[in-house]
Amino acid sequence: MIDVLAASVDDVHALADRLGHAVPGSGLGAERLVSDRDRVAAGARLRAEDSRRTLAGRAALRMLLAARVGVPTSDAAALAIDRTCTQCGEQHGQPRVDGLSVSSSTSGTHVLVAVGDADARVGVDVEVVPEELWTGFDAYALHPDERGSMPDGADGVSQRIRAWAQKEAVLKSVGLGLRAAPARLRISAVETPGAWPSGAGMLDPGAWRPVATTEVRDAAGSWVTSLDGADDAWWMLAAATPQPIRRWTLDDLAAAHPSAA
Ligand SMILES: CC(C)(COP(=O)(O)OP(=O)(O)OC[C@H]1O[C@@H](n2cnc3c(N)ncnc32)[C@H](O)[C@@H]1OP(=O)(O)O)[C@@H](O)C(=O)NCCC(=O)NCCS
Repeated sequence: MIDVLAASVDDVHALADRLGHAVPGSGLGAERLVSDRDRVAAGARLRAEDSRRTLAGRAALRMLLAARVGVPTSDAAALAIDRTCTQCGEQHGQPRVDGLSVSSSTSGTHVLVAVGDADARVGVDVEVVPEELWTGFDAYALHPDERGSMPDGADGVSQRIRAWAQKEAVLKSVGLGLRAAPARLRISAVETPGAWPSGAGMLDPGAWRPVATTEVRDAAGSWVTSLDGADDAWWMLAAATPQPIRRWTLDDLAAAHPSAA
């Protein structure tokens, strides 16, 4: 079972203010729900809005993790999330939690976080669809087999960002991130309904799709599905195998943490 929360930065901060017993709108709640390292990471962002968004991502991950493991939000800041980078040892790498797999992403005004079993190997990516793409996008992001099939215009931009978000979620699930060029993999264009038996209230309408072609050995065999979310963005969840999904709302999280009442 993968627990997923998709929300806005503002709504995450509003709930964090409630759960963190901070003055509504102060933004201090999120600071109370995260670790010292999270605060440093958020504070290191240059623009205030980036800092606020990173803090929301960190707080959302901790609120969802606390709900998953059944601890009160007063303990959220103390939950051990190791972010040691496998390349340099700094604390900016894939988030890791003993016995579970976790992932987070933020883009624009959006936050997406997921918690699964360790062998689920979750990875998420939310990407706001921009007005236009940068030169060289196709060569960097699209597999050669994808390049001829993308439409032009606004739909083309959206489809390209969709492909990008699918791949980034997969690459995050295996801990590589964009150290591996997205052009080196292709996600199946075909959904695989029934890849997992549906269970009431557990599954999103989006069906899982496998990685169809990849030169990135670690990503072989991974799966990805799109999630419902604000429609100016693509919301993607990757995992080692198709899994049941439990979607959380911020109201669910508030209810799971009665101290918010
Ligand atoms: C992971 C990565 C793709 C995210 O990029 P992004 O689109 O800007 O940001 P997102 O909001 O989608 O994801 C950010 C989250 O990814 C996670 N993350 C960082 N590195 C990760 C990795 N290697 N694998 C999986 N997740 C990772 C963090 O939880 C981060 O959360 P934070 O914003 O609270 O710090 C990008 O940071 C990357 O490629 N990192 C790896 C590069 C690397 O290893 N370089 C070597 C440095 S020594």
